Amino acid sequence: MKKITATEKELSRLVTNQKAFLDAIPQPVLIINGTKSIEFMNSGAKKFFANKIATSKECEQKSSEFFCRLLSSFSSMEKDNPGQPPYQTYFENYHMEYVFAPFLGYRGSELQWLILRDISERKKQEDELSVFHNNIELILSQKINKLKESEKIRQQLSEQLIYLKSQIADLSSDDPMIGSSKPMSELREMISQVAQSDATILITGESGTGKELVANLIRESSSRQKKPFLKINCNTINDSLLESDLFGYERGAFTGAQTKTKGKFEVVTDGTIFLDEIGDISERMQAALLRVLQNGEIFRVGGNSPISIDVRIIAATNKNLAEAVEQGRFRLDLFYRLNIINISIPPLRERKEDIEDLVAHFIRKYRLAFKKEVDFVPRPVIDKLKRHHWPGNVRELENVIQRAVLMAKSNIITEQEIFFDTLPQNGDQDNRISLSSDYDGAPLKSVLAEVEKEIISNSLKKHHGNVAESAKELKVGKTAFYDKLKRFGISTKDHR
Ligand SMILES: Nc1ncnc2c1ncn2[C@@H]1O[C@H](COP(=O)(O)OP(=O)(O)OP(=O)(O)O)[C@@H](O)[C@H]1O
Ligand SMILES: [Mg+2]
Repeated sequence: MKKITATEKELSRLVTNQKAFLDAIPQPVLIINGTKSIEFMNSGAKKFFANKIATSKECEQKSSEFFCRLLSSFSSMEKDNPGQPPYQTYFENYHMEYVFAPFLGYRGSELQWLILRDISERKKQEDELSVFHNNIELILSQKINKLKESEKIRQQLSEQLIYLKSQIADLSSDDPMIGSSKPMSELREMISQVAQSDATILITGESGTGKELVANLIRESSSRQKKPFLKINCNTINDSLLESDLFGYERGAFTGAQTKTKGKFEVVTDGTIFLDEIGDISERMQAALLRVLQNGEIFRVGGNSPISIDVRIIAATNKNLAEAVEQGRFRLDLFYRLNIINISIPPLRERKEDIEDLVAHFIRKYRLAFKKEVDFVPRPVIDKLKRHHWPGNVRELENVIQRAVLMAKSNIITEQEIFFDTLPQNGDQDNRISLSSDYDGAPLKSVLAEVEKEIISNSLKKHHGNVAESAKELKVGKTAFYDKLKRFGISTKDHR
């Protein structure tokens, strides 16, 4: 009996210890007995439920409902095998995690520990995290879509760029006539207006202004573009040769005329004839040409019957034909026939705004031809080019750039590489005209410097780089002369 009491005491000590141990655990822990009723609720559990529900009565009611639910779920769990613990449930708005752990009680009864954990905070964080993930995914997918969109736009732009580049390349290669100044725009307009017609055209302009270029353009824009194009330089062939060459000859017309031969006007029928330097033709040729223009017919040299021809005449001259008419050197009637449409090309000095474009054009042309890297012409060089008078017009500019590209030591053209064509001097008056308009608007100091530099260079050239002789010729002291050489960057070596 005594022994039993001792055991009972021991058991109740163990039970008390266990409950004290469970009370020390902050989480809610309950002991459920075999009859599925709560045998013990630790202080963690009591505190948890009391904290969640305001009144103790309500708390009692709600917690017992909750336990009933858990216990019944536990019964079904035993049957249905719902997967791995811990299981999850809700108490009020709290997300709970729980496990049942069976154990044998000190008195041999089958008991369960029900261990609960409030995971609301963790769940909240998980939910926030998942919302965040969803948001991130949404933002990312929006960004990706935007990127795809911009990639599409980039693709389109790059295609557009390639197209525009090819257009620009086409433009620069297709339009051989460079210049966007007002006179050049008017010239273009005029060419497009008159090219289509069959009218005779007289192109006038100083040497090198682009008369032949314009003649080519007219022919290319006309309906005869695919028909023959004959260029005749009237001042290079002697008169009788020119006549027989152009109009042909009958057998026996002159010594050596053994067979009847067609002239170029007949051969080129339906095509275009460019008569360059028309101001230089003889009176006889003028009469023959008048017949072509008036009646559309020719006579072969030595022939009597007219031959109808269909050619379009484009003529060009750098002479003043009106003046030649006044002086009786050119037939007035021929002048009128030729001058039905007059295209007058202004000299380069009257459209200096084209210089920049022309320079770029010739640099492109000659850097390719000479395989040089030149791609930059600094502003002072352009200014120097713009100050020049350009008596040789575009041809002279082309020569200057051609030389400069050839001589360039880097990708940049420097002033040292710019040499103007030396033209035969026509006396003092021409020189004076050249100077006055050449330096139009430039500061006096720089004009004087340019002039001084040129005079010194010319003198050095004359004396093969001998400073003493040049200084003597120009009546300048030697020290002052050396000063000037230094100031203008003139090297005597270049003149030896
Ligand atoms: N506007 C221009 N754009 C590009 N090149 C040009 C232009 N004008 C002239 N040139 C070039 O300048 C050079 C001279 O032109 P062109 O032979 O047509 O002149 P021209 O008036 O016939 O000269 P000339 O009276 O001495 O016969 C050619 O190489 C030509 O291609
Ligand atoms: Mg010419």
